[in-house]
Amino acid sequence: MKVELKKPTRELFQLVRLWRNQEPNTHRDELPITEAQQNNYYDFYVLNENRMDRKYLSIVVDGKEVGICGLKNIHDCRGDIMIHIDPLQRNRGIGKKVVFKLIDHAKKNWGIISVSGSYSWKNEGGKKFWDKICDEHGWIRVVVFTPESI
Ligand SMILES: CC(C)(COP(=O)(O)OP(=O)(O)OC[C@H]1O[C@@H](n2cnc3c(N)ncnc32)[C@H](O)[C@@H]1OP(=O)(O)O)[C@@H](O)C(=O)NCCC(=O)NCCS
Repeated sequence: MKVELKKPTRELFQLVRLWRNQEPNTHRDELPITEAQQNNYYDFYVLNENRMDRKYLSIVVDGKEVGICGLKNIHDCRGDIMIHIDPLQRNRGIGKKVVFKLIDHAKKNWGIISVSGSYSWKNEGGKKFWDKICDEHGWIRVVVFTPESI
């Protein structure tokens, strides 16, 4: 399985929107996202490479875009990792591989020196995933976003 991180396409962003709308608990803001909102978001964060507070990459497995990853809340050379994978591609070890590829990419390309894993408070799957990563790599820290988080 060859896993690469690349510049995301607009089509991938629309797919992520559909996955996310199907699983509102995976995100802090549980309201459904519209096609137009997601297009604006893509223009704002992916096409505008000067945005330094959030960065996104597509997860490409054997040549096919199967998910998205990135860093949020980037400041002082640190950021919070987000990952969202196609529901049909989960439990194949992709997420775990992505964590370390993303850390490597962020260090080399975005000047990041510290990251945290992150999940939203109602996201049981996200919690289990990060618990597993932390069990195996004790140096990784995790933040939980709650409705009060900024
Ligand atoms: C969470 C997510 C990224 C995991 O991706 P994945 O490719 O399925 O994860 P992996 O196959 O690499 O799993 C790594 C380990 O975590 C465990 N794990 C992953 N998801 C899990 C879940 N929902 N419940 C229990 N364990 C889970 C796996 O069993 C695996 O353990 P192992 O190493 O002993 O085999 C994916 O399920 C997803 O995109 N979910 C929706 C968005 C989300 O919740 N993102 C996380 C917060 S940003």
